[in-house]
Amino acid sequence: MNEHGEREQGFRAEEIDTSRPHPARMYDYYLGGWDNYEVDRQAAEHVIQAHPQVKLSARANRAFLRRAVRECVGDGIRQIIDIGTGIPTSPNTHEVAREIADDVKVAYVDNDPIVATHAGAKLTNAGHAAFVLGDVRRPEEILAHPVVRELVDFDKPVAVLLVAVLHFVKDEEDPAGIVAALAAALAPGSRLVLSHATAEPYEGYDEGYTDVRARDSVLGAYKNATASLNLRGRAAIEPLFGDFTLQAPGLVRVPLWHPDGPVPSAQELSNTIFYGGVGVKA
Ligand SMILES: C[S@@+](CC[C@H](N)C(=O)[O-])C[C@H]1O[C@@H](n2cnc3c(N)ncnc32)[C@H](O)[C@@H]1O
Repeated sequence: MNEHGEREQGFRAEEIDTSRPHPARMYDYYLGGWDNYEVDRQAAEHVIQAHPQVKLSARANRAFLRRAVRECVGDGIRQIIDIGTGIPTSPNTHEVAREIADDVKVAYVDNDPIVATHAGAKLTNAGHAAFVLGDVRRPEEILAHPVVRELVDFDKPVAVLLVAVLHFVKDEEDPAGIVAALAAALAPGSRLVLSHATAEPYEGYDEGYTDVRARDSVLGAYKNATASLNLRGRAAIEPLFGDFTLQAPGLVRVPLWHPDGPVPSAQELSNTIFYGGVGVKA
C-alpha cells in the first residue's frame, strides 16, 4: 500500500505473489502454458468469458513477435533487448533470431519474478543471452544495468522489443517518455518492435470485443492484478514510436503485419486486440 492507502502497481523483485493475478501468468494461460496459479486462471477465465478470442489474440501477438524478430535479424540486427519478455514460451526470441543468425545477442527484461525464475533454465542457457529483472517504467536502469551493458554494444543498432507491455503502463507513467528514453541510447538503424492492446474496432467493424460491457469486464479482471490494463486506440499508440519511423505497413492489427499465411476476416481482425508495428531510428 502507498501513503494514500492504495495498492501499489507492481511488486518487490523478490516477491512471487500467488494472491493476485500476474499478467505474465495470465498470458501464459492464454497461450496454453502451465506456469500459472489458480488466481491467474480465474482472472484469465474471466477475460476469456468476456472476450473468448483472447487466446487467438495472444497467439497472433506472439506470431507478430516472431515475424518482426526475423525481419530485424534479416536486416542485419545482431542485438535485441526484449522488454516484457513474458514467461518463456518456445520459440523464444533468441531461438527465433538464431534460426537466421547464430550470433544474435539477446537481453531479456521483465519485472515479474516468476519470469526470472523460469528465465534461468530456458532463456539464458544458450549463451549470448541474459535475463535482467527490470521495469520498463525505469528505462535508465535497464540501459545502465551491467548485464545489459556487457551484452549490448550501444554503438551498433539494437532491436528493442516492447511487445504487449506498454498497455501495462499508465498515461501518467508516460509511455512515450519511456520509449524516448530508450531511443536516446540507441544507434541509428535501431528498431522498435511494438505491440499494444486496444478496444478499438477494426476499421469500423463494431462487434464483439468493442462491446462496452465486455471491455469493462476485461479491464476489471486486470484491476486486482499486479499491473492494470490500459487499452489505447491507434491515435494514442502511433505517437509512442516517437523518433522511430514506422516502416510499411505501419501500425496495423498484428495479423496484417507482413503476414506469412492467410489474412483473417474483418471480424477476426476486430477480435484480434493487438496493434503492432516496427519503427527504425534515423
Ligand atoms: C502480455 S505479456 C507479453 C510477453 C511477450 N512480450 C509477448 O508478447 O509474447 C506482458 C509481459 O510484460 C511484463 N510486464 C508488465 N509490466 C511490466 C513492467 N512495468 N516492466 C517490465 N515488464 C513488465 C509482464 O510481467 C509480462 O511478462
